[in-house]
Amino acid sequence: MTDKGEKKFVIPHKGRISKADRQRLKGHKSCIVWFTGLSGSGKSTIAHALEEELYKRGVHTYVLDGDNVRTGLNKDLGFSEEDRRENIRRLGEVAKLFVDAGIITLVAAISPYKRDREFVRNLVEPGEFVEVYVRCPVEVCETRDPKGLYKKARQGIIKNFTGIDAPYEEPENPEILIESDKESVQNAVLKIIKFLEEKGIIPKKEE
Ligand code: ADX
Repeated sequence: MTDKGEKKFVIPHKGRISKADRQRLKGHKSCIVWFTGLSGSGKSTIAHALEEELYKRGVHTYVLDGDNVRTGLNKDLGFSEEDRRENIRRLGEVAKLFVDAGIITLVAAISPYKRDREFVRNLVEPGEFVEVYVRCPVEVCETRDPKGLYKKARQGIIKNFTGIDAPYEEPENPEILIESDKESVQNAVLKIIKFLEEKGIIPKKEE
């Protein structure tokens, strides 16, 4: 990062309303649900379906999607290892602010490097980072190719494409594993909801 070697004299201001106060107001806890996986694996689809289900339950959420944030805050970044690291750092820092605001923050980004994902995990308190690995064989993602980008990567028009000529480091111990070539979006959503209920992040649904 651009540390210009300047001495920093920044003393954070602490407000009287805490994260716990904001969570109490909302009636649920807040955390980051971090979707990692190849392009076309279904991260955004599952994140948005989860958001809909949580909305129906009165849970306050927000989706930070790599593709979308790259059109604004992160539009200065490309796909080198260094730029991806900065992309993940910024997504992580923004997600941390949202968690402080009491919001369940769903982040969908390839986030191919283990070290970068661990960086975000360590930004927040234990239990506040829920890693969801949306696993799908690259051949299946390539067949789906919703944005036609795998085709372009194969033609050499796009360089450093994850899964083709750039690496993807699989999570070893994700909190949740979704096999998107084998299970439905609805099943994935239910799995995540169950996890959030069991961890006491959201209240159990009253039948
Ligand atoms: S990350 O690697 O930095 O986490 P991010 O999730 O923000 O990536 O953005 C990935 C999206 O950018 C893909 O879904 C795809 O639409 C697009 N994209 C464009 N070029 C590439 C590339 N070289 N590798 C992967 N995705 C790319």
